[in-house]
Amino acid sequence: MGLRGRDVVSMRDLSKNDIESVLRAARKFIPVAEGKVRSNLLDGHLLALAFFEPSTRTRLSFETAMQRLGGRVVTIADPAVSSVSKGETLSDTVRMLSGYADAIVIRHPNEGAARLAAQVSDKPVINAGDGAGQHPTQTLLDLATMQERFGTLTGLRVVLMGDLRFGRTVHSLAYALTLFGATIVLTSPPSLKMPEHVRRELDSMGAHVIEEENLGRAIRTADVLYVTRIQKERFGDLAEYARVSSDYRLDPKLLEGVKDTFIVMHPLPRVAEIPKEVDSTPHAAYFRQAFLAVPVRMALLSQILTARGGA
Ligand code: NCD
Repeated sequence: MGLRGRDVVSMRDLSKNDIESVLRAARKFIPVAEGKVRSNLLDGHLLALAFFEPSTRTRLSFETAMQRLGGRVVTIADPAVSSVSKGETLSDTVRMLSGYADAIVIRHPNEGAARLAAQVSDKPVINAGDGAGQHPTQTLLDLATMQERFGTLTGLRVVLMGDLRFGRTVHSLAYALTLFGATIVLTSPPSLKMPEHVRRELDSMGAHVIEEENLGRAIRTADVLYVTRIQKERFGDLAEYARVSSDYRLDPKLLEGVKDTFIVMHPLPRVAEIPKEVDSTPHAAYFRQAFLAVPVRMALLSQILTARGGA
């Protein structure tokens, strides 16, 4: 079964085959994303973007993907200027959008909001981040970045660092890495550990998960360090945020002991967790990762919206 007409709310909505098929198609879209080849694959298709939380890359890469394939977008980028500010419910907004567009991309501060949207929409719904829940399309481009670098996803050793509690990108990513048999090393401040329900699910899938508090030790034998931002907006107590974020930073010296092929990834935005000096090292992969958002979202949108899916 292809992705045509399907919702992508959680990583669990995608099989290993679905993921591999998106990654394969994404590689073919790279020249289109670079602007070197023109395509009209999504001519006549309209995508609605409903963003109820700040976004730069996610929203703009969805818009770029759509427009470079000849499709069009309508966007709520600022809920303050839509009827949400008048008290319209999410389900009314989504039901209306599903009458306008061929698919809806939604980002919302509440966990479960995208699932609710999918229930009331008769068009496919793509979750672009629901609170501290999931961010499955980010995971697809994270996997594309690793696959481009290592040629495979099987057997990688990936360190997930930082806010594993509120960081939705790592919840989706840990699930997907487990599907591909990666070893996952968790390193976080004690108050920001991976939630129990995520750990339980990984365990039930037979995941290889290790906890390692010492970052230097964690990355010495690793292929990837995936850094996340401390999710300030999800803290009830800002004093607690200040406490955990103050000494949370990748020390460039630690990179002296890593494998040559080792990469540092980050979904971005970074705040202070990766110093700028790392950008010029061969290990920095986060800007490539941000670029790959476009071909990956091209692949996903083509597969959801059309029969051939750009294959
Ligand atoms: C992430 C998000 O929104 O979850 N950003 C993104 O989509 N690239 C990570 C973050 O905000 O820290």
